[in-house]
Formats: sequence, C-alpha cells, structure tokens
Amino acid sequence: MIQHDVVIIGAGLAGMRCALEVSKDLNVGMLTKVYPSRSHSGAAQGGIAASLGNSEPDTWEEHMYDTIKGGDFLNDQDAVEEYVKAAPRIIYELEHMGCVFSRTPDGKIAQRSFGGHSKPRACFSADRTGHAILHALHEQLMKNAESVKIYNEWYMHALIVDGDRCNGVVVSNIQTGEVEVIQAKAVVFATGGYGRIFKITSNAFASTADGVMAALDVGIPMEDPEFVQFHPSGLYRQGILFSEAARGEGAYLLNGKGERFMETYAPSRMELAPRDIVARAEQSEMDAGRGVDGKDMIHLDLRHLGKDRIMERLPQIRQLGIDFLGIDCITDCLPIQPTAHYSMGGIPTDKFSHVILDEKGTRMNGFFAAGECACVSVHGGNRLGTNSLLDAVVFGERAGKSVLEYAVGIDYGNVNEGQEKARVLEKFEDVFQRDGSESYNDIRDEMKEIMMSHCGVFRDEERLKVCLETLKGLQERFKKGKVTDKGKVFNTEIYEILELGNMLSVAQLIATAALRRKESRGGHFRTDFPKRDDENFLHHSMVFATPDGLEIKPKPVIITKYQPAERTY
Ligand code: FUM
Repeated sequence: MIQHDVVIIGAGLAGMRCALEVSKDLNVGMLTKVYPSRSHSGAAQGGIAASLGNSEPDTWEEHMYDTIKGGDFLNDQDAVEEYVKAAPRIIYELEHMGCVFSRTPDGKIAQRSFGGHSKPRACFSADRTGHAILHALHEQLMKNAESVKIYNEWYMHALIVDGDRCNGVVVSNIQTGEVEVIQAKAVVFATGGYGRIFKITSNAFASTADGVMAALDVGIPMEDPEFVQFHPSGLYRQGILFSEAARGEGAYLLNGKGERFMETYAPSRMELAPRDIVARAEQSEMDAGRGVDGKDMIHLDLRHLGKDRIMERLPQIRQLGIDFLGIDCITDCLPIQPTAHYSMGGIPTDKFSHVILDEKGTRMNGFFAAGECACVSVHGGNRLGTNSLLDAVVFGERAGKSVLEYAVGIDYGNVNEGQEKARVLEKFEDVFQRDGSESYNDIRDEMKEIMMSHCGVFRDEERLKVCLETLKGLQERFKKGKVTDKGKVFNTEIYEILELGNMLSVAQLIATAALRRKESRGGHFRTDFPKRDDENFLHHSMVFATPDGLEIKPKPVIITKYQPAERTY
C-alpha cells in the first residue's frame, strides 16, 4: 500500500497551488491523468481577475458586486468577499513565483476588460494566461520534489471512507493497469469539470466528472449541477476556446446580416455582457435564421484591431484560427458558436474548502475540494470570465492551509487494503469481461448530442424529459458494451469507458436538477419559465444519490451585502 500524508487528485492550478502549501509541512502524493503542464487550466486564455486598479481605479467591493450580479445572485456572498479580497495578493505572489504578466507602457501589470466586469481587471499573459500560471506553479513544485511525488498518468477510481472520515483513494497506473491503494490522512480533489458531456465543448479530454462521481459514490451530494456555462466564442463545430479577451480588446460579434446584434440584448455592455447573456443572444440569432450563411455560426470580427495589437495581445487565438480553419483573423472574421465551458456546480464545500455532506454544512473529515470540481459557491449561477483562474489559485491555497490545520499531528485512519482493491477490481473486471454488442463510442456520441440539443443553452420541460429518457436508455446500453482491447498495459479504452460511465451519471444529475428548477437564472435558462423566481428558487440544489434515485434538497444562499436585484446590462 502506498502512503502519503496527503493525496491530491488533479495537477491543474488548484491541485498544484494546494500541493505547494501542503508540502511546507507534510508529504504529498499528487495524481494526474495527464501531466501537470497539460492540465486543462492551461486552456484558460484571457486572464485572471483582481482589482489592482492599474488601468482604472477599482475596488474589491466592485469586483464583489460584479461577481454576484454576474452569478444572478446565487453566489454565497461571504465566500465571494474573501475571494475577491485575496485577489491582488494572489497576483503579486504569482508574479514573484515567475509568472510573466503582460505590462502597461509604464511597467505595471496590464489589465483588460472582460464580460460582466465593470472595470478592466483581467491580468493576463497575452492570451496564454492559464498556461503561464500553470508553468510557474509547476516550476515551484519541482523545487519541492522531495516532499511532493507526482504520479503522472494515474487514474483515481474511488474514495476510501470510514464513517465520516476519508482515509485515502483507490487508483491505478494507466501504464501498467495495476490497481493500488493510497492511504492518506487527507484527500484533496482538484479534478476539474465535465464539459466533455456536451458535443461542442472547450474542455480537454480529461474533463469527465471522475471527482464529482467518486464523491457521489460515498454519499456526498452534488451542488448546483444544473448550472453549466456556455462560452460565446468556441471555434465553429470544434468548440475550441477563442478567448473572450478578443472582445475585451474590442472585437465585435456579427450575425449573418453583418449586424452587431448585442445592441438588442445588452445595449450598455454589448459584446462584454456576461457569458450566459451573450451565448443566449448568439443562440437566439441562430435560431431565428440569422446565423452566418444560415448556419449555427456567428462571426467574431477582430479585423479593425489591426495586426500589431492582435500579434501582441492575441497571438494564440490567431494561430488557432489558422491551424484549425485556415482563417487568419487579421484579415477575416472567425466563425464561432457557444461552447460548453465551465461547471458552476460541483462537490459542495464551505469557504475553507472542506467538503460538506449536506445542506446544513456538516463537514466530511479529511476530504477537501478546490477549483472547478468544487462548488463553494463563489460563481453562483454564472461565472464571470477570469474568475476561474482566481478561484483555482485562491481555493487551492486555502485547501492547502485547511489540510495543514487538519492533518498535522493526526494518525492515519483505517484502510482495509484488500477489500478496497477488490471493490475496484470487481468493477474493472466487470467492464473487461463484458461481451455485449453496443459501441461505447456511439453511446458517447449520443450522450453529447442529446445534452447539447436538449440540455444546452436553452431548456424546457419537454426537452429535458426527452433528455432524461435518452440518458436512461444509454445507461442500459452502457451495461451491454463491448471492450475491444483486452490488454492491461496502456489500455486507454478501459479508462475512456470508466469516464463515460461517470459522464452518463453527471449528465443525469444535470438534467434532473434542470428539470426541477422551474425558473431562469444565470447559465440555466428555461424557455417555459423565462424569469428568475427568487421566491421559490433562491437556493442551491443539493442532489443526493439515494437507493430510490436522485433526491434534491434546497440549501440556502448566503447573502451578506447585496440583496438580489434585477440583472440588466
Ligand atoms: O475566454 C477566456 O479567455 C476564458 C477565460 C475564463 O474562462 O476565465
């Protein structure tokens, strides 16, 4: 049995920032399905928010209000306050760790505008901000190699729980297929989101809900799964992110008639309204037949920015356009469409990153979560762009501090290695031995298709019911799938099947919670209930897996400074 004081699952920004903190005093094992610098955090392009006030005077209060208004007042305001207050310190710390931020002519950290932020507060490294931070953190961890062991290309199967205490995880080495138990005094999940359940997504292949489903398996609910963010500028048909930074720098959105249609939907903020509003505006234009060439396509027009500005501020998206479509945004418009980008919901935590077991906030001992897989909830119903990198770093650090408070000086809990291994091996063997006729690839494609068309930017009761029925059918077919690779070494097929199982489950949670929430708020829009309904739905959804199926309980929203108000832009 492997032993570490603390095991962290996921090596993106949240996982690595947490590891840096914990390794000051304890020994850490950090697992990743990929390699730290290939984590999905690296796909975040446009910036990380902080009220530095380098371009215009700014305050944490304004950052806080923008975040809450952007989240349609579902955010827990005590957590938001601490998070935005921490932001400037976080930026300077990252800079001192070696993260190279773009500068103003007088040498300060430059800040650009982003959707829903009333001030330019996105600190950035051209349009590769996530990448720059990811590498800075990885370099710092390398210095700590004696206290942090990184397990590259390992998969986490299950949590080990004894009563109300978490004592480790069951994992396997993708290279050898060997199942192992890791005993730990504390476990941290930083496992990211699950955008891969949608046909069009900006998410990496690894974003498949393994963390939230492992938590659900041991009785932890999922909070607010119905809130999924669609980013307005995904590369047409592929979903790859074209940073909102383009619009922050002044790019326009045009419909098939060449009109800047945001005038109709958000006249004061135009292209820089929050993402939920812009994505719905695009979808409405396309549904009304005003997409470019009559297709589900909108144009992102950067041409007026000029070559120099594009090359200095947006070099990566220019290259993406050339590589994937043969289109150079210096001379031509880029074809885009809404793309599933971010999960506001996740494993419920308090503001100290402790995972909670219920709507009353009861803590699970020794289990922590941070980053996209966690629901704190600082983003409420819709996250503002550039607030996720901040979330990952702030709550990664905070999880680390909480872990130290919890785990220093305690003993390891009980782990029955044989039993834990057997549980996972049984599941493994079950998949290996299946000799059905169903194709897992078809099941995956059909799940992505139905989630996009029936549980996407616009939802209604009829579509959600069809979606749930379809998912039920897919879950049945999943049990009758056929594995073609029966080997154990680097058998990526088997892991893709396990991931598909997780994705089918999380899809069901999303659609179930979306069906119950008969209102429209943030990223969740019901065409049959187009208004926000604070009287009946100003609460978080806590979705529990029970023997009788999914059960949803409300959890109150923490409101401190800002009472819910109408959200206009
Ligand atoms: O558009 C972007 O650059 C994405 C940033 C984010 O999701 O925070």
